[in-house]
Amino acid sequence: MNKFTLNVRTLSQAVNARFVEMHGALLPDVVPELTRAFRELETHRAKMTYNTGSIALSAGVFLFMAANIFKPRVIVELGTFLGKSTLSLAQGADWGESAERHLYTVDKDNPCFLPEKIGNVHIHPHPGKTSTERFSALVEAGIKADLISLDGRLMPEDLALVRELMHSETVILLDDFEGVEKGVANLQALTQLIGSYLFLPPVVEPRLAHFGVIDVHSTALLMPFSLLAITRQ
Ligand SMILES: C[S@@+](CC[C@H](N)C(=O)[O-])C[C@H]1O[C@@H](n2cnc3c(N)ncnc32)[C@H](O)[C@@H]1O
Repeated sequence: MNKFTLNVRTLSQAVNARFVEMHGALLPDVVPELTRAFRELETHRAKMTYNTGSIALSAGVFLFMAANIFKPRVIVELGTFLGKSTLSLAQGADWGESAERHLYTVDKDNPCFLPEKIGNVHIHPHPGKTSTERFSALVEAGIKADLISLDGRLMPEDLALVRELMHSETVILLDDFEGVEKGVANLQALTQLIGSYLFLPPVVEPRLAHFGVIDVHSTALLMPFSLLAITRQ
């Protein structure tokens, strides 16, 4: 028998469509809230030591939806900068929930002006630390991440630490997944750890435009196969 092949881009289009379908009722509230918060976070740019890129609104919406679907209790983020991604993840995990959650975020080059808590999510920023320094401390503390979001470049020493931070259902988000950007390098670095993962590259979900989201993002999703349930309805 021939195999039936399914391209990861086609699969990602279906997953992204489902993300929006699941959030159709929330997006009219979420999009203006993220837009307002992103504008406010932009005011910190002048105070940053290393002025670099931040995420697009569509990436924020994607992170929000991913965090809202998987409901991670513990999030580990590499690359805080303005904190748009941190805020999107925290709001997504917290939306409609009352459980306490923790988000650890690190940035070696920039200060952090985020609040101590976003909803019920405790924000633990670590400005001035490298991913290796921060991940080592988290591993030593016995922290396991339900979701890891990478918007900085993994260092060679990080691979063993990320392995320790992961459990069998850890979801991973990779920003800047295009061309020769860091998301592609980070995916390559993670190759040994993601044998049981579904790789979903960034795609444009046209229905987001109905909610006023017209920019394009480059965030890929790595989802353990075990978190995927095929339903009949
Ligand atoms: C693209 S910016 C992050 C944007 C951020 N997610 C946002 O929403 O504003 C990447 C940041 O990660 C930091 N960074 C990159 N690699 C790092 C590493 N290995 N350890 C710590 N910080 C790192 C950079 O200095 C930079 O400030």
